[in-house]
Amino acid sequence: MATTLAERMNHFSGSPTSALIATVAELKRQGKNIISLNVGEPDFGTPDYIKVAGIKAIAENFTKYTPGNGILELRQEIVKKLKEDNGVEYALNEVTTAVGAKQAIASSLMVIAGPGDEVLLPIPCWVSYTEMIRLAGAEPVFVPVRSDNYELDMDAIEKAITPKTKAIVICTPNNPTGAVYSEKDLRRLAELAVEHDFFIVADEIYEKLVYDGAKHFSVASISREVRDRTITVNGFSKAYAMTGWRIGYAAARPDVIKGIMAVQSQTTSATSAISQKAAAAALQGPQYDLHDMVAEFKKRKDYVVGRLNAIPGITCPNVKGAFYVYPDVGPYLGKHVGERTIETAVDLCQYLLDEALISTVPGEAYNVPGKIRISYSNSMENLKEALDRMEKALSALE
Ligand SMILES: Cc1ncc(COP(=O)(O)O)c(C=O)c1O
Repeated sequence: MATTLAERMNHFSGSPTSALIATVAELKRQGKNIISLNVGEPDFGTPDYIKVAGIKAIAENFTKYTPGNGILELRQEIVKKLKEDNGVEYALNEVTTAVGAKQAIASSLMVIAGPGDEVLLPIPCWVSYTEMIRLAGAEPVFVPVRSDNYELDMDAIEKAITPKTKAIVICTPNNPTGAVYSEKDLRRLAELAVEHDFFIVADEIYEKLVYDGAKHFSVASISREVRDRTITVNGFSKAYAMTGWRIGYAAARPDVIKGIMAVQSQTTSATSAISQKAAAAALQGPQYDLHDMVAEFKKRKDYVVGRLNAIPGITCPNVKGAFYVYPDVGPYLGKHVGERTIETAVDLCQYLLDEALISTVPGEAYNVPGKIRISYSNSMENLKEALDRMEKALSALE
């Protein structure tokens, strides 16, 4: 018999969206004309001025280890950005870079939560939070968001607070729903955090992708006492189309940052020196690529929301952020085609993959079944074709 794995692996699972990416890649390799609506990254290239900074770093041999929290030049840019864009003042020792926002969140949770602690998670939520909380030894406590518009349900959050509540993880603009949380709700959340003394992990990775006049609000900007209970996480993956560069950051009070640096120093060390130079250039440079990308995403969102709501039985809130929508497909569950019964959103996504050759993510991945996540990070032409195919496949279900 093979030597057994660690006990924790009985309760820990890999990212379902990463697994789907591998499945779709394999189907495409086999020659299937799949249109990917499961994509979690911008379909735009990294802007040229950022790429040039990366190339220059390589040419100048800026290719060695850096300090664990990142190079001074980049941390200075991040401090400036957080002040100018988000209205939050952080000192240099209150910021650390990381191998993507993902590592910053995982390290943060290791630092602030452990066995016996509960961490509130508004759901649906990004696939990784749940497992990160468990890996830290704490217990995730799911709190559904409002079903009509995917905004925070503040009464439900208040009810879920117990003496064990150590933190809440919020993501705004949200993956997977696209909702942008209101300043009013975030202010109420901050009051609760101060009253009951828990941390807010604010994942702001989609901050720049907002439409229709929506405004991103940083919870840490409310007051000093809120700031000191908040870990503001952000990165370069979505705003600058830099997913593969693996660079993000966290900002928080010094003891939290020191803790994050300790975790990182014993696991990954600093992120790539080359990516750090490129990230500094991203913040210093012109932001017009970002503005073009936002304008394009807005057009696509309007198109996709319009098309989805025109399909009988589907309802899709017209959300204002990120590049996802999360339509309710409930009326299609329990339907049949031939021998096939569609019981769950997982079945529906598999059916759409098999029959319409479009890849979507079932709501189960985000802890809320009966819905699917559609990413509009794809060309207008592909989105049009994908929605035609989806409409046809759904109309075959009875
Ligand atoms: C909500 C959310 N947070 C964090 C991340 C990770 O970002 P990064 O590429 O900076 O690790 C993602 C990526 O999909 C995300 O959707």
